[in-house]
Amino acid sequence: MRSKIAAGNWKMNLDKTSAATLIEGLSLDGIGDTKVIVAVPSCYLSLALESTSDSRIIVAAQNAHHEQSGAYTGEISFQMLQSMGITHCLIGHSERRQYNGETNDIIKKKIDLCLEHGLTPIFCCGEPLEVRERELHKDYVLTQLKENILHLTTEEVSNIIIAYEPIWAIGTGVTATADQAQEMHAYLRSALANHYDSATASKISILYGGSVKPANAKELFANEDVDGGLVGGASLKADSFNAIMRSF
Ligand code: 13P
Repeated sequence: MRSKIAAGNWKMNLDKTSAATLIEGLSLDGIGDTKVIVAVPSCYLSLALESTSDSRIIVAAQNAHHEQSGAYTGEISFQMLQSMGITHCLIGHSERRQYNGETNDIIKKKIDLCLEHGLTPIFCCGEPLEVRERELHKDYVLTQLKENILHLTTEEVSNIIIAYEPIWAIGTGVTATADQAQEMHAYLRSALANHYDSATASKISILYGGSVKPANAKELFANEDVDGGLVGGASLKADSFNAIMRSF
């Protein structure tokens, strides 16, 4: 059985006090075995680790550099994350592809380094609006899979989480419909089954991201191949993220 996951991506939001208040406000009571992940800005990783030490909230990094170490001022490495006890890291988010020039080649290097250091990549993929309008979204995302993760062994790929985040739905208030999400998730899973095998594909959690909120989470998560959400804006308020955790 693959995991159900509610993951929050805080992006570049919150000051220290509000970050601490938000973590304190998260409640996992009664959510069963749903995994809860919060991807926090790197300057709050220690704070988040400390304040979640007696809970099973997983603290994730939002990024790390694609080289092992060296003269990369301002960057952090997977080795640093590993040494802090961080177990998960977002990789390939569309905002980093768009604003930080992350190519498929760089993302592939990050995936490899992340796994090499024993962390779980939360690999993000998804198409821009013009690609969706030309009905090329499946090809587009398949290319991302091919260039970013399909070089992995069966054992390695079993250790990743995938987040399908159509760019046109991120931060726009426009959510993919439950049918659109299910269609793409099933497509991604079948691509994994074709390349690996169906047992491997059936174990990989595929999250949906893009304007997930308490009002639509249940409908999205009810789909067979939607194993949870990667949530931006609605993860910045404890009430709404707590509600999303309870939407399975
Ligand atoms: P929103 O939920 O704010 O649309 O952001 C989605 C996202 O990018 C999560 O990584």
